[in-house]
Amino acid sequence: MDKLIIRGRTQLKGEVVVSGSKNASLPILAATLLTDEPCVIRGVPHLRDTITMLKILRSLGKEVFFDNGVAKVNSTRKHSVVADYKLVSTMRASFCVLGPLIGKYKEAKVSLPGGCIIGVRPVDLHLKGLKALGVDIKIDAGYVIACAKSLKGGYIYLGGTFGSSVLATDNLLMAAVLGKGKTIIEAAACEPEVQDLAAFLVKMGAKVKGHGTPIIEIEGVKRLHGAEHKIIPDRIEAGTFMVAALMTRGDILIKNVNFQHLGAVIDKLLESGASVRKSDSSLRVYSRRRLHSVNVTTLPYPGFPTDMQAQMMSLMSVTPGVSVITEKVYPDRFMHVAELNRMGASIQREGPSAIVEGVKQLSGAPVMASDLRASASLVLAGLAAKGTTSISRIYHLERGYENLDIKLQQLGACIKREKE
Ligand code: UD1
Repeated sequence: MDKLIIRGRTQLKGEVVVSGSKNASLPILAATLLTDEPCVIRGVPHLRDTITMLKILRSLGKEVFFDNGVAKVNSTRKHSVVADYKLVSTMRASFCVLGPLIGKYKEAKVSLPGGCIIGVRPVDLHLKGLKALGVDIKIDAGYVIACAKSLKGGYIYLGGTFGSSVLATDNLLMAAVLGKGKTIIEAAACEPEVQDLAAFLVKMGAKVKGHGTPIIEIEGVKRLHGAEHKIIPDRIEAGTFMVAALMTRGDILIKNVNFQHLGAVIDKLLESGASVRKSDSSLRVYSRRRLHSVNVTTLPYPGFPTDMQAQMMSLMSVTPGVSVITEKVYPDRFMHVAELNRMGASIQREGPSAIVEGVKQLSGAPVMASDLRASASLVLAGLAAKGTTSISRIYHLERGYENLDIKLQQLGACIKREKE
């Protein structure tokens, strides 16, 4: 296992290119199960999670070639409808093969993903939606066993206690595109990654309207054909580099950005006093003066993304003033608090909120990554801290950031990878 060693307090300067979105790639790769024809997906980041999805596609009977960000997915003569526990348990998003399998083959056996470090993470909304499409669902020995004589269109209200669900919306979209008649998903997730999936499905011949709004309408078609698609840029990776620029008092040009997807993040950083300059598909981020604290509440898109909460907390931990950070999507997503405090931050958790009192200086320390975005917040803290930070268990980071250490090195950071 590798760890990252960071010597902090180097200003980051220069240009960085954001990779394709992990959270768009995963359901889009799963959607290739909906057709027997070849599909070509470009801009797929080389990550632990995308590699896991490609392994799952192979286990389901696809032939996959992946090189230089291009995934070519072809069919073989045999297919399987069983997504095994071993693969699904390593990545929750594997559960999004359920929708396309039931859509295409009218049967599926997919392992339940279980909880994870950021919370309980149920799948009730996925199952409720599939039932509304006429799918019979049983849970047996840790698997969801789904079958349907035919999929009928239906009305699905997808709102849950914590808003809508991104992967449930993806699953239902992918099931309904090959259903009979019209399906309406109300309280659908509006995230750009859902929009990108819908755009790919439309290229495959699906009839989908309203994606990007809370009401999605799908008119089922008999079959879908192969298609080519380029994945949207990763808005969370872009947001993480924006914070990196500010935490090191640097000046970075972040390329391959769709800033329309980053409205809430840009707004919060501007409110804290940062300078953010937009041009074409780039963002320049820097700060000429000291930032001041801002309150942040995470919400489903277009609200402030929960996947940027930990990084924002790192920034607020070195920003003068008191900031209240409230998590409304995953109320238990605060694993990074204890580790940031070990680096000298002053953060107190109060239920679904954290009260962050900005300190003058963090100090480097050995810390442990607990989940993907928590790991990113520790890297950011390490970049700003005095002294050396070593971050163990960085396989979490490798799930979601393509070549993060190399990209940071190119921006001037003193960061290296070592064997634990
Ligand atoms: C996706 C993203 C993840 C992001 C999250 C929220 C992918 C691969 N992952 O995860 O990075 O943090 O959206 O933006 O795209 N919930 C239920 N019942 C369900 C499903 C979800 O109660 O059936 C709850 C969850 O526990 C959570 C909230 O709804 O509190 C949002 O979760 P959801 O949008 O489903 O997250 P994912 O799609 O798994």
